[in-house]
Amino acid sequence: MSRTDNVVLAITGASGSAYAVRLAQVLLVAGLRLHLIMSSAARQVLARELETTAPLASDTESDWLTFFFDSLSQGPAADWGFRSIEDPEGVPGSLMIHGTSDYSAGIASGSFRTRGMIICPCSMGTLSSIACGASTNLIQRAADVHLKERRPLILVPRETPLGLIALENMVRLTHAGATILPSMPGFYHQPTAISDLVDFVVARICDHLDISHSLIQRWGESDAKSG
Ligand SMILES: Cc1cc2nc3c(=O)[nH]c(=O)nc-3n(C[C@H](O)[C@H](O)[C@H](O)COP(=O)(O)O)c2cc1C
Repeated sequence: MSRTDNVVLAITGASGSAYAVRLAQVLLVAGLRLHLIMSSAARQVLARELETTAPLASDTESDWLTFFFDSLSQGPAADWGFRSIEDPEGVPGSLMIHGTSDYSAGIASGSFRTRGMIICPCSMGTLSSIACGASTNLIQRAADVHLKERRPLILVPRETPLGLIALENMVRLTHAGATILPSMPGFYHQPTAISDLVDFVVARICDHLDISHSLIQRWGESDAKSG
């Protein structure tokens, strides 16, 4: 596996845990080496939204794979219409889990090559810390590294309404090279299930990193009802 198969996924404490779980599934199915960091707030949100507990950073890759591939087929998400995209046993990608204080991780250094970093969902707290270069945990440090190395950094914020501070932080991050990709699903593809809305956003994220997926039919590639 080449070093550029590395992708960083940070999950923070904004609403939308299902986006993160679905995205992890797609990245792993695409054969990527996923460097995962989860904030403690993200664990709280996940417990509430998906009624499940994420493994610890010290748990095994197998525990994490089971978590990612089971979480959307049980609990409340079992009714959200997700189709299975892979048996976890056959997943070609791999996972490396990092603690939020693991500053000796490769992804804390600019010399460690990655295809890019995604923060999904991205809390306003993490977004503001990155906007001011705080680097007070590994998520913020890795994001800062991606900006200074001019590598793709995709932030998927969720908040409404957006205050001036959040808006200005997003402008600042865009100037610095980040992509602000809010979890704002379209409705022109005529969704019938929550999974359609989640997959819409995850597909847009993957498109920005040129990661192959078959989550949605693309607008213009089939009939007018596709999107
Ligand atoms: C159930 C729940 C939902 C939340 N939803 C959001 C949200 O949508 N957007 C946001 O910016 N913060 C949200 N928060 C607050 C963040 O979790 C909080 O600001 C936290 O400090 C973020 O920390 P982190 O960036 O390290 O993950 C939520 C918290 C909880 C418990």
